[in-house]
Amino acid sequence: MADPLDVLKKKREQSLKGGGDSRIEAQHARGQLTARERIAILLDEGSFQELGSLATHQITDFGMGDKLFPGDGVVTGFGKVNGRRVAVYAHDFTVLGGSFSEVQSHKVSRLLDLAVASGIPAIGLNDSGGARVQEGVRSLQAYGDVFYRNVKASGVVPQISVIMGPCAGGAVYSPALTDFVIMVTGTSNMFLTGPEIIKQVTGEEVSAEELGGAWVHNARSGCAHFEVARDADAMALVKLLLGYLPQNNSQDPPQLTPYDDPARADEALNSIVPDDDNVAYDMLEVLNAVFDTDSVLQVSEQYAPHAITAFARLDGYSVGVVANQPSVLSGVLDIDSSDKIARFVRLCDAYNVPVVTFVDCPGYLPGVQQEYGGVIRHGAKIIYAYCQATVPKLCVVTRKAMGGSYVALSSKQMGNDIAFAWPSAQIAVMGAEGAAKLLNRKAMKEAADPAKAQADFIAEYKERFFNPYRAADLGQIDEVIEPKETRTRLIRAFEVLRTKVETSVPKKHGLFPV
Ligand code: HXC
Repeated sequence: MADPLDVLKKKREQSLKGGGDSRIEAQHARGQLTARERIAILLDEGSFQELGSLATHQITDFGMGDKLFPGDGVVTGFGKVNGRRVAVYAHDFTVLGGSFSEVQSHKVSRLLDLAVASGIPAIGLNDSGGARVQEGVRSLQAYGDVFYRNVKASGVVPQISVIMGPCAGGAVYSPALTDFVIMVTGTSNMFLTGPEIIKQVTGEEVSAEELGGAWVHNARSGCAHFEVARDADAMALVKLLLGYLPQNNSQDPPQLTPYDDPARADEALNSIVPDDDNVAYDMLEVLNAVFDTDSVLQVSEQYAPHAITAFARLDGYSVGVVANQPSVLSGVLDIDSSDKIARFVRLCDAYNVPVVTFVDCPGYLPGVQQEYGGVIRHGAKIIYAYCQATVPKLCVVTRKAMGGSYVALSSKQMGNDIAFAWPSAQIAVMGAEGAAKLLNRKAMKEAADPAKAQADFIAEYKERFFNPYRAADLGQIDEVIEPKETRTRLIRAFEVLRTKVETSVPKKHGLFPV
């Protein structure tokens, strides 16, 4: 009889090799790391505790009886990232293309159950051809079990998905149910049905990259939230991202030792808003000046760039930032930016990250396509998300806060706790030209000099409404501040609100306008 320890060693060695040397070489030749290499980069050295490394499938048909790989194509376990505990799974593409099996599902489901029970984030490194075809309905059930757990874990523990290879079918639905999706340029794809099936069904010819590459999902579909150049960059981003998040929804995000002067006042902010309403400026410059140095991390940077959603730090504390970007489409709200903002506000609220909103927005984008596309429903998501969020909420109106954008993004009626405005703020129902067209028609017709009548109306309208003082008189703006004071004011406001408690009437759930 063989020495039991030798048997264990042999099995472990086999498990460590995944699909074997040639498959590992092929993975490296594509510029990709193996599942174990990815985990090793992600986790603190020596912290990985693997579970299920010897599990294998029980399938014998389709030649599967010979294809037994200890671990069955997914590496699962627990470890630490910067000293904080995480659960992690990584598909091993060298084993049957990382295809998802019954055994994989048992391993991942167990990991998610333990992650929720222990209140620790779950990270999935996805590199899988989807449901293992040879397992038939077993692999469908396998996915169903994981989706169920992804949903149950949603809003309880942060879930981060990294797409690190060609992911198809069920391998993209599970990430879609998680909080963040990170894709690697050039080597990762996501699609429900691949190019070949699309060609068969619709006749369309498209490459995998054009169909579901990192750019497509970051910039067009919005299904991914970050794009990185290499596998190792993805691991670095996961570590960074975790730093802004709590371990679970009953905790607050960790505070870094403050490294930036809370009283820092950037003089340049006082002149950043151009005198001419129609001239843009870069809201990112504002954010970088206000928040702790180098702390702004954009989420969904490429999608709907007329809105900015980002994590940042104030005096070392994690905050969520929503801002209009006046330098892209004047910072208008539309279907895509509404989705982007609403999702981010809900995410912050779920994980106890306070939200600060910087407003410079001419309103919702007018247009037939927007109306047909359901801008009413999508726009309503912003309102719903802000009203529902119980985390501390602050806003700063830097310039335009017109009509719906004022109400939806910044108003106290949405539950904003403290509202600041810069002296350049313009808080009105609509722009001056639109108001003139609506209200000044009769006067224009009767005027000896219609152009002058129009100009006079616009001048008076701007004088009345294009300032923050009317809103401040009504208590809608708490304080008009010098732009350079913004950092200090926000830090002080959050200091007060850190112990905020808000209760709501118990209900099963509301109907978010999806
Ligand atoms: C079983 C699979 C597999 C799968 C890949 N392999 N996908 N085995 N089930 N789903 C195997 C291949 O047979 C091959 O084995 C090895 O993995 C590597 O795959 P290649 O095709 O050689 O690699 P590559 O050229 O890089 O292409 C990768 C790929 C492609 C784009 C992922 O393999 C592919 O299109 N796979 C099928 C994708 C798919 O349609 N999945 C089913 C989705 S349906 P050998 O031994 O030959 O090297 C689904 C339903 C769930 O997921 C629905 C839930 C809602």
